[in-house]
Amino acid sequence: MRPRRCLLFMPGDDLKKIQKGIRLGVDAIVMDLEDGVALKRKAEARATIATALRDLPFGRSERVVRINPIGSGLEQADLDAVLPQRPDSILLPKVEHAGHIQWLAETIADPSVRVLALIETARGVVNLREIAAASDRLDALIFGAEDLAGDIGATRTQAGWEVFYARSAVVTHAAACGLQAIDTLVIDFNDEAALIEDARLGAQLGFSGKLAIHPRQVDVIQAIFTPSDEQIAQAQRLILVHEEQQAQGSGAFAFEGKMIDRPAIRAAQQVITKAQAAGKIPRNP
Ligand code: COA
Ligand code: MG
Repeated sequence: MRPRRCLLFMPGDDLKKIQKGIRLGVDAIVMDLEDGVALKRKAEARATIATALRDLPFGRSERVVRINPIGSGLEQADLDAVLPQRPDSILLPKVEHAGHIQWLAETIADPSVRVLALIETARGVVNLREIAAASDRLDALIFGAEDLAGDIGATRTQAGWEVFYARSAVVTHAAACGLQAIDTLVIDFNDEAALIEDARLGAQLGFSGKLAIHPRQVDVIQAIFTPSDEQIAQAQRLILVHEEQQAQGSGAFAFEGKMIDRPAIRAAQQVITKAQAAGKIPRNP
């Protein structure tokens, strides 16, 4: 699976922002057709995105298009406009049940186009189990706190306890089905301290990446979702010692003052996988 430490959103009708986005070295560029675009500008946005997909050099950034939700009456025309230009992935917002993902997977003929599911409604949260298992075209579950808060009648706070159940449920269901989990965005793009705190919490919870809405957020997010040299070195040492201990027949052992058994080894292996995905260390042969 491609690394998706940061996915940068931009309105699909704003070619200038798309051009700026592709120069940032961000893992994924999300050209939006949904809420970032006014109703009367949808046709303009479809044409702009199709042109960008056809003509612009995205480098190593993934080319993602967010279409309008199923049932909006806009989704088919969105797909008709962008699929001929072969985006890497389609991001589907307001996914509420497995049928939404299945419809999209069937409608996209090209099997190389991946699907990313945005979970941002109460129904989406309670149906996570069937959504996560809906299709082998699905790569990631993305958590959207702003829409969810509106849907459940919660007030957003910086600490985020009002959406904590859903945030945690998204990570858990993604892990259960071998999917990536991508965390919600921070709307105050001038508050770097708040972004750092929120991104760190997301990483601790198990998310492998986070949404962004402004170029200023990209480097901060990508750094937080990349294991540090120290974390990588510690994970490598741990795995090595574990192999020696296994050879000697011991399950649990002490390492740098802590009890180590199977869960700690799995966590260390995940650090290695993330470091490989970020290109910091080579992949296993
Ligand atoms: N992607 C790419 N470039 C962006 C960008 C984005 N998301 N947000 C801002 N920029 C660019 C601006 O065009 C500007 O470029 P310039 O210096 O070449 O003129 C530069 O970054 C600085 O932008 P700034 O002036 O700080 O912000 P703004 O007032 O132009 O825009 C927003 C603020 C919120 C409108 C803008 O960040 C944005 O459109 N974000 C994404 C919104 C979206 O897609 N929402 C739907 C998904 S939640
Ligand atoms: Mg939304």
